[in-house]
Amino acid sequence: MNVSHEDDVAHLCDALEKRLQQLLPPCELHGAVYAAMRDATLAAGKRMRPLLLLLAARDMGCDIDRSGVVDLACAVEMIHAASLVLDDMPSMDNAMQRRGRPTIHCQYGENVAMLAAVSLLSQAFGVIARAPDLAPEVKSQASAALSVAIGHLGLAQGQFLDLSASHNSGDVEAIMLTNELKTSSLFDAVLQIAAIAAGAQPLAREHLRSLAREMGQAFQLMDDLADGLSHTGKDAHQDRDKKRVTLVAALGAEVAYHRLCQHMRRADSHLLNACTAGRATQRFIHAWFNKYAVFIGQQGPYSLSEAR
Ligand code: IPE
Ligand code: IPE
Ligand code: MG
Ligand code: MG
Ligand code: MG
Repeated sequence: MNVSHEDDVAHLCDALEKRLQQLLPPCELHGAVYAAMRDATLAAGKRMRPLLLLLAARDMGCDIDRSGVVDLACAVEMIHAASLVLDDMPSMDNAMQRRGRPTIHCQYGENVAMLAAVSLLSQAFGVIARAPDLAPEVKSQASAALSVAIGHLGLAQGQFLDLSASHNSGDVEAIMLTNELKTSSLFDAVLQIAAIAAGAQPLAREHLRSLAREMGQAFQLMDDLADGLSHTGKDAHQDRDKKRVTLVAALGAEVAYHRLCQHMRRADSHLLNACTAGRATQRFIHAWFNKYAVFIGQQGPYSLSEAR
């Protein structure tokens, strides 16, 4: 049966939502930390990282109908949700809105938000440890990849540099390093986990490393370019009002968009070298790019090969 790309992605999204519901602790009897964990994760996000994991794994020949692979993807979304809770805290971005709702600390208080974030991180590793139908080395390598992405070698250090950046000069290389640590790191773990699940070769994994680097830069640029827009589900003008040192602030929107297109083109060529069994990952990334390029006011529909 021929399934459209949109239906394919919608079907995977559905499977993720159902499994996340099961893997998060039930909140009825257990109070605020449980409820905050569920709210933070189940609120409507793009599910970009878990979808990328599933599509890339399948495009490398992995059978993603094995339930354990979906669990790996759910673990990644829990970690992402935890990172958003922390990113929104008063001591970080002090955000009021996330995914179209009040941020977790606004809803539940800072103490609960912090505990929910820690609990989501620990739940994610528990989910991987218990994932069915996966070889022990797949689970241990997936855990190792995520532990690097989250901590002082990845997200945590990226967040620290981001928050320290207002004291810096706005140096482009420094901002790119921050973006690589705070955003590319998790994409890197996502794609490496896809490769681990698929048993991909070292060369494919190298291309995925480069793809994650480019994708993370592109993703953060798109996010920064959307800062002043409404309907993002987040506080508008958050970066501008908090004087965040982003590439958009340093270079202007036009140059930032041009760089975004360059990252996307390079991402594309790494993707084609890594995922040789299917094209769904490429379609997914292009669809994301086209949708948000239009959203930030660029011409669309947009073909990457036509990018300047
Ligand atoms: C937001 O990530 C954090 C950034 C790295 C910019 P997303 O834009 O993927 O957020 P959700 O998951 O869709 O809410
Ligand atoms: C990305 O940066 C934060 C994380 C990687 C968690 P931002 O601070 O720009 O993300 P948003 O705009 O709040 O989603
Ligand atoms: Mg931030
Ligand atoms: Mg933020
Ligand atoms: Mg942002």
